[in-house]
Amino acid sequence: MTKGNAPTKADFVVVANRLPVDLERLEDGTQRWKHSPGGLVTALEPFLRARQGAWVGWPGVPDVDVEPFTDGEMQLYPVRLSSAEFRQYYEGFSNATLWPLYHDVVVPPVFDRSWWEAYRRVNQRFAEAAADVSAEGATVWIQDYQLQLVPALLRELRPDLRIGFFLHIPFPPVELFMQLPWRTEIVRGLLGADLVGFHRPGGAQNFMWLARRLAGFEPSRAQVGVRSRPGVVQVGDRAVRVGAFPISIASGELDQLARSKEVQQRAKAIRSELGNPRKIMLGVDRLDYTKGIDVRLNAMYELLSEGHATVEDVAMIQVATPSRERVEHYKQMREDIERKVGSINGEFGRVGHPAVHYLHTSVDRKDLVAFYCAADAMIVTPVRDGMNLVCKEYVACRSDLGGSLVLSEFAGAAAELTSALLVNPHDLDGVKDSMLAALNIDQAEGRRRMRALRRQVLTHDVDRWARSFLEALGASPTS
Ligand code: ADP
Ligand code: F6P
Repeated sequence: MTKGNAPTKADFVVVANRLPVDLERLEDGTQRWKHSPGGLVTALEPFLRARQGAWVGWPGVPDVDVEPFTDGEMQLYPVRLSSAEFRQYYEGFSNATLWPLYHDVVVPPVFDRSWWEAYRRVNQRFAEAAADVSAEGATVWIQDYQLQLVPALLRELRPDLRIGFFLHIPFPPVELFMQLPWRTEIVRGLLGADLVGFHRPGGAQNFMWLARRLAGFEPSRAQVGVRSRPGVVQVGDRAVRVGAFPISIASGELDQLARSKEVQQRAKAIRSELGNPRKIMLGVDRLDYTKGIDVRLNAMYELLSEGHATVEDVAMIQVATPSRERVEHYKQMREDIERKVGSINGEFGRVGHPAVHYLHTSVDRKDLVAFYCAADAMIVTPVRDGMNLVCKEYVACRSDLGGSLVLSEFAGAAAELTSALLVNPHDLDGVKDSMLAALNIDQAEGRRRMRALRRQVLTHDVDRWARSFLEALGASPTS
């Protein structure tokens, strides 16, 4: 990564909780930058590099002051968080209040007034940072649930800007959203944008209903389409558009990388290191309780105990990136998952053949792609996921038309990847059946499904997502 001083003002600015790189402090006292985790960065980084824009975000470590710098073609503007803000705004309100609330209350959200105050304060800081770096009339694209107040705060500071907001996680059913004590403030915060984007039309419809119910603004009545027919909420003399823009990946690049000799050799090596099992099953996730890692472990347990699979025949790999490690429900889930892995391996593993190969780490891009190429079955079983990019990555990597995808109906991607083996993650028998079907799929049937999946993923890449959002934003009137 080459770094230099950031120039002054930018015409295109992304504002996200995290910068695309995280500062890491090493034990010897030195520090380095590493790639930030998660789908948001995966999706936006290639796009922003090509557009030579600016990115405003937190450098991933509390209590550090980092000067603005350039990383290749991007200008990065770090926003400081104190340890208390990290606890209250990031771990607290973002990830123990909003995250579970927006993911179907999978675990109970915590409503804490001091966290809300910190959220407001930090959103104000992000708005001020965005106002500082934006050139006159610039386009500012605010990202995700951590920054839902920024659109309105930024509009107050800089009415000349064109402001877009995109939510990377599901927008909840209205009955659940109504639990939030600060629901009206959040809706008003989002309505500061010219365009509010969601993955699915359902999220857009829910938001428009709430705009009327909580803020008294009249929404349009027609159904919102996918990348088309955005709804409109009239806010005084401003028409706020509300649309559905399913996010994607840089599928062409990934396809090329997966075809490279280096990756193909690495994929072969993975298979042979596993003892050349008949089938390899793979899970790749941030270690998050929404991802349904427990679901697939329970299914694997039953497949082994019922004799449908043996450890010599099927190797299961679960790669789990550490995530939000100090948040209580994440700690509990990690213990639960690791206990399950231990007990499955204790009961069914043989010397040289564990039932589950569990890696609690982030792997580098080429290794990840090699895992995708080696896997006969990719298991993606979230109980709720805004989109899920992992399943799209797997598909992009399979130009050989090999491999089967088991995909939860509760991932946003299921609406597009209809040729996957779709499962209800709450139905253990259904998950088991689909895992077995993926392992034993007829070759022609597998190829037919993968061909259809690839057609979707390769023609709907992240560039198309960003362009469709920005075109809709360009069409929005600025006030
Ligand atoms: P989320 O945004 O909730 O983390 P997504 O599936 O949308 O979920 O995106 C996850 C991104 O993080 C993908 O680009 C995926 O490749 C990457 N990722 C997930 N787990 C790992 C891992 N263990 N090592 C490296 N990258 C990972
Ligand atoms: O896509 C959802 C998301 O929460 C992003 O906003 C975030 O960057 C990513 O997952 C990883 O989460 P975190 O930044 O909390 O590590």
